[in-house]
Amino acid sequence: MNLQERVTGTFVERFGRAPEVVAKAPGRVNLLGAHSDYNEGLVLPAAIDRAAWVAAARNNSDVVRVWALDFAQEGTFALDEVAALRGVAVEPTWLRYPMGMAWAVQEAGELPFGMDVVLTSDVPVGAGVSSSAAVEMAFLLAWEQIAGFTLPNLTRAQLGQRAENEYLNVGSGMMDQFASVAGRANHLVLLDCRTLDHELVPLPEKTAVLLVDSGVRRQLVVVDYNSRPEQCREAVALLQPHLPGIQSLRDVSWADFENYSHHLPMVLRRRVRHAIGERERVLAGAAALRQGKVAAFGQLIKASQLSSRDNYEVSIPELDLLAAVAWRQPGCYGSRFGGGGFGGFMQVLVDLTAVDPVAQAMSAEFETAFGRTPRTFVCQIADGASVVSGNR
Ligand code: GLA
Repeated sequence: MNLQERVTGTFVERFGRAPEVVAKAPGRVNLLGAHSDYNEGLVLPAAIDRAAWVAAARNNSDVVRVWALDFAQEGTFALDEVAALRGVAVEPTWLRYPMGMAWAVQEAGELPFGMDVVLTSDVPVGAGVSSSAAVEMAFLLAWEQIAGFTLPNLTRAQLGQRAENEYLNVGSGMMDQFASVAGRANHLVLLDCRTLDHELVPLPEKTAVLLVDSGVRRQLVVVDYNSRPEQCREAVALLQPHLPGIQSLRDVSWADFENYSHHLPMVLRRRVRHAIGERERVLAGAAALRQGKVAAFGQLIKASQLSSRDNYEVSIPELDLLAAVAWRQPGCYGSRFGGGGFGGFMQVLVDLTAVDPVAQAMSAEFETAFGRTPRTFVCQIADGASVVSGNR
C-alpha cells in the first residue's frame, strides 16, 4: 500500500468519512549553499521523493485533531489557543509544526479551519532532510484547500520560516520550505534568499543522491544551530562601523574581508570566510550544472563540506569520515552533510551505476570506525508539494 492509500484509508477508518483533501510535501537535500539562507545568501537545494502526507477534512469546529500514523498518537489543539502557546514546549513534539503553521497562517490574515487530519511521512526525522518543513508545507496546502485560499510558493516558504523563527524559536532560513514547495523533478532550485529570485537548474541525468546516516542525533541541535545565525549577526554588527552599507553577510566581499576582518575575533572570521566562499560556490555550481559539468559541480560540493568543517565548524567525526570515504569512490561526484549539520545524513551525488558500490564502501568503513552499520537511502530529485486529491 502506498502512502496515499494508507493516509486515505486510515482517515476513513478513524473519522468515518472521506477526506476532503490529500496533500503531500517532500523533504529536501541541499547540495550547495550551507548555512547561507539566513545570511540572505544563495542556496541550491532540491525536493526528494520522500514526503509528508496529510489527509484532512473540516470538522466544523475550532479544533485541529491530528492522528499521527507513524507514532500511533493523537494530538489536538484549538485554533484560538495557538497564539498563547507560542514558544511553549507542547507535547507531543510533532504537534508543534502544525501549530506553528496555524499561527503563521493566522498572522498572515488567513483563516485556517478546524479539521480532522491523518499525518504520515517517509522523510527520515532529525536527519537533515527537513522532515519538519515537509509537515509544515503539507498542512499549509491542506488548509489552503479547505479554507479556500491559495498562496504563492514564496509566501508559503516565508510562512514556514516564520513558524520556525517566531513560533518554534529556530533561527533557520527559508530554504527547506521553498525547496519543498518549488522543487521540480531532476532539478535543483537556485534561490537567492535576498532578492527571492529563483531558477531551476537541471541536474544531469543518470545521477542520484545517496543518503548515508551518521546515526548521530544531537539533543542540543537547535542550540548549536541557532548559535550560527547569532554569530553571523554579531560579525555584521562588528563590521558595520567600517562597512556602513552592509545589512547581512551577503554584502561582504573578499576585498572587505581582506580590509576589515582583523576587527573580528578568529571564530567570526572563519564564519565570514565560509559565507563568502559558499556564495561563490553556489554561483559556480549553478554555472557548472547549466553546462552539464557534473564533475566540476561535485568538486564544489566537496569544497563546501571542507569549509563547513573547518570554517563553520558544523561537522562531526562521523560525517568527516563518510565524506572522505565517498570522495575516494569511483562514480562519486561529491559529498557533503545535509541540513544544519552536527549529525544526520551525508549526501552523496553519485552516478546511477555506482550507487550500490559507493553505499557498500561507505557502510563498511563506517562500521569499522564506529562499530555500527549506517542506514542508507537512495533518493531521486522529485517535484515539490502538491494537492493529490481535493475539491478545488
Ligand atoms: C537547516 C535550516 C535551513 C538551513 C540549513 C543549513 O536545514 O532549516 O534553513 O539554514 O539548516 O543550510
